[in-house]
Amino acid sequence: MSGELTARPKDSKRHPWDWYVEEQWVTHRLVDVLDLEPDVTYLDPCCGQLHIPQALADRGFPQVYGTDIFARNPAHRLFLGEHNFLGEQRHLLEASNRLSIIMNPPFSYQNGKLVRGLAEKIIRQALSIATHKVCALLPLKWLASEGRYRLFTDETPVGVWILCERPSMPPGDMIEQLGDNAYDHGKIDYMWVVWDKQREAARDSRGTPFAPTFWIPPRDKIATKAERKMAA
Ligand SMILES: C[S@@+](CC[C@H](N)C(=O)[O-])C[C@H]1O[C@@H](n2cnc3c(N)ncnc32)[C@H](O)[C@@H]1O
Repeated sequence: MSGELTARPKDSKRHPWDWYVEEQWVTHRLVDVLDLEPDVTYLDPCCGQLHIPQALADRGFPQVYGTDIFARNPAHRLFLGEHNFLGEQRHLLEASNRLSIIMNPPFSYQNGKLVRGLAEKIIRQALSIATHKVCALLPLKWLASEGRYRLFTDETPVGVWILCERPSMPPGDMIEQLGDNAYDHGKIDYMWVVWDKQREAARDSRGTPFAPTFWIPPRDKIATKAERKMAA
């Protein structure tokens, strides 16, 4: 990746590769509400520090891996290696005939530059590779867009699961510095959008595809910061 920006320039407010880290409870909540096949391989192609693969492994899924354009947690046992998910090469796992993809995709930045429709590009790539589910963690506002109308009608999700508890998503390169306050203040509402290659999209009586909406309840209130940290 020589010549590319791996760290944030001092004057930049945004991480150059959109490395924003969700806590593991966000994935646990998805597992709580969605029937995920136990005998499918799960890949997070934008895995960062591997919170999604780790959360799935903790819930008993045996085949779970992560790749990322940079090795952000290279020693993690579920990390397969560096891989540009939007590049031309495929790795062996992506050719699996039982593959689901679960990810928190980068939303708008590649190498410090704004890329319009980035999350959609990544989702379309995931839909071209997965044989089973594609689950993407996205801001709620992502659902309404002229540009994405085609995505929702060509590739209609099987459901939208809104997280009623707002996750916080600090930049990965600031977590250490932020310490105990890293995950304190979520400012944006998120949802899991789920596609299923094994299922036809629902259609109304006019033949228009639609996706049902579900609400994921907030976790029980946890009294102390220390307990919250343990539950993350
Ligand atoms: C929103 S963060 C995901 C955070 C992750 N769940 C974690 O536990 O750290 C998006 C990640 O996508 C990665 N990424 C950005 N562009 C990519 C690309 N073209 N191919 C693969 N990964 C990419 C970034 O490096 C970053 O780690």
